[in-house]
Amino acid sequence: MIATSADRICEAVSRLGSESAFEVLARARALEAKGRKIVHMEIGEPDFETPEHIKEAAIKAIRENHSHYTPSAGIVELRDTIADYASNFRKMPGAFTRENVVVAPGAKPIIWNTLSALLNPGDELIYADPAYPAYASAASYLEAKVTPIPLLESKNFRLDLDELENKVSARTKVLVINTPHNPTGGVLLRSDLQRIADLAHKHDFLVLSDEIYSRNFYESEFLSISELPGMKERTIIVDGFSKAYAMTGWRLGYAILPPELAPVVTLFNNNTFSCVATFVQMAGIAALTGPDEPVRRMNDIFRERRDRLVRGLNRIPEISCTMPEGAFYAFPNVSQITHDDKALAAFMLNEAGVACLGGSAFGSAGRGYLRFSYAASLDDIDLALERIAEHTPNFR
Ligand SMILES: Cc1ncc(COP(=O)(O)O)c(C=O)c1O
Repeated sequence: MIATSADRICEAVSRLGSESAFEVLARARALEAKGRKIVHMEIGEPDFETPEHIKEAAIKAIRENHSHYTPSAGIVELRDTIADYASNFRKMPGAFTRENVVVAPGAKPIIWNTLSALLNPGDELIYADPAYPAYASAASYLEAKVTPIPLLESKNFRLDLDELENKVSARTKVLVINTPHNPTGGVLLRSDLQRIADLAHKHDFLVLSDEIYSRNFYESEFLSISELPGMKERTIIVDGFSKAYAMTGWRLGYAILPPELAPVVTLFNNNTFSCVATFVQMAGIAALTGPDEPVRRMNDIFRERRDRLVRGLNRIPEISCTMPEGAFYAFPNVSQITHDDKALAAFMLNEAGVACLGGSAFGSAGRGYLRFSYAASLDDIDLALERIAEHTPNFR
């Protein structure tokens, strides 16, 4: 018998995860094509336009013919700018240089390439449950052992550190933390980070700290684990331009990592996407060196939306929602209605016209929760709340 193309797909593909936001977005768009009004609260991207000075910098770069290949780690001007920005933002002036920086088309590919540079089959990667799916997907593909640690709603979705301490072993090579957190909006406290740092020293593992929401932060001052004593050498910071500067479609992100690791991650860049579009990198320089006011303005608007959404959700019977301290997601507990969050999310889309995600799309500990992105206007948030309140009693 002749094999079909499907038979030829390699076995490793079965270990890949995926981001359900893109699937739900496609279903929502299909309903819109039939004339339905859908409130989009599924996809994690700011609904703002990229600030003008960033767009201008890209246009100028194109006009000046910055349209050729660049080094796989990124142009030195951008790497220098990122090193300065990252050192100053994290209150460690001069801590990082271009040797610490590797640029990629988004934070997601740098997560993939960094884990590819680190994980042997059988090495352990520990991560939070629920979590952004890319970490476990890459690690599973690489045949690493993936160990989820639950986040506790009772601790406002911070890690269960006793469980972490129990689970950590000699095989643990990388711990992934993500603060502020997708999908819950949770933020790790200094005491949490210190305990994680102590464990990292004791058990000699690296921390991949996904800080892509470090500018979407509503309470006190952002703290990176890399700022704690001895942790700069053990931390890989993942960051990027998508969320802070409303640049999701530009595809620009980076890692800040110990200089010995940078060439290896760069080798993976070289073997996959070669380099990031030159004019996009130049736009990145404008983002980091230009006025910071647009970032702060977007954040103030997010805070207002967060307050409106969370207050509204808590008024709906059988839904309860903690106050997220960062990112732009609310993660309400809907377990009094159902534990089948995916069915409820599908019902919300099909019946209420509100696109959101089931919490279990982010791991089994997300069962019984929904994720709403509040990167939506106040009018849309009000409309969504009205529709959720009206339709929820009909879900059975
Ligand atoms: C926690 C987290 N890390 C990384 C990314 C990837 O961002 P980028 O657009 O830079 O690839 C996202 C995007 O949703 C995210 O939520």
